[in-house]
Amino acid sequence: MAGQILDGKAIAADIRADIKAQLDARVAEGHRPPGLAVILIGANAASQVYVRNKRRACEEVGFYSELHELPPDTSQDALLDLIDALNGDALIDGILVQLPLPRHLDEEAVIERILPTKDVDGFHPYNIGRLALRLPLLRPCTPKGVMTLLGRTGRCLQGLDAVVIGQSNIVGRPMALELLAARCTVTISHSRTKDLPDKARGADILVAAVGRPRFVPADWVKEGAIVVDVGINRLADGTLAGDVDFAPCRERASWITPVPGGVGPMTIASLLENTLQAAELHAAGQG
Ligand code: GUN
Repeated sequence: MAGQILDGKAIAADIRADIKAQLDARVAEGHRPPGLAVILIGANAASQVYVRNKRRACEEVGFYSELHELPPDTSQDALLDLIDALNGDALIDGILVQLPLPRHLDEEAVIERILPTKDVDGFHPYNIGRLALRLPLLRPCTPKGVMTLLGRTGRCLQGLDAVVIGQSNIVGRPMALELLAARCTVTISHSRTKDLPDKARGADILVAAVGRPRFVPADWVKEGAIVVDVGINRLADGTLAGDVDFAPCRERASWITPVPGGVGPMTIASLLENTLQAAELHAAGQG
């Protein structure tokens, strides 16, 4: 029987409605709306689309948002100066630097310059470290959104075997930490992993985050597994495909996320949650 769809689009809409209600209550208590500053450097077409979607979501729930569009030849010093200014800006709770950066910029130094309580992407070593220690503060948005989706299956995650395909700092690594914190037994795979198909076939939860269209075929999916597809790949014909070969994998899965409409909207919903959380921290005088 075909697996059930984990409908990220609908679940993200519920979360946004909940955030809007929380925001309205905070504003009625006299708080200012949470503020998000987005920094976009250069004209990467995919980044422009992501940034537009993030800002639109902010505006829909009533957050204050500002966009800093900088030219592709922006210097490291100019970028760090802007981050310093935003760190000190009382109207800004979250700072998001859209990645990837142009090659001449030092991504690690840029991320580390953001105040950890304004790091709504959850990429700062402080926030990753807290997640590793099971003391999460601001959690990386895509893995956090995936955990929200897994919660909606109603399955107890403790003791399940999870396999994460992909080891990026943005998704694969924090995803593995999230699943570990949920008491799964976690395998993280990468390009040097031996016998990936065998490992994938052992997974109760299979998360694909490799960035290669339809990388996961149906015979890698254990009967009854939960399959989460983080990939968004644009094909030559302009259509989108995930990292999972959706239709045949669905036949074996108990639950599966579609692309689009699965993990993507959850990433943005998590960003809104993090920005509200950061505003609460700042209102409480922390950070
Ligand atoms: N580039 C791709 N995904 C992300 C993300 O979640 N945050 C940022 N800042 N850049 C990205």
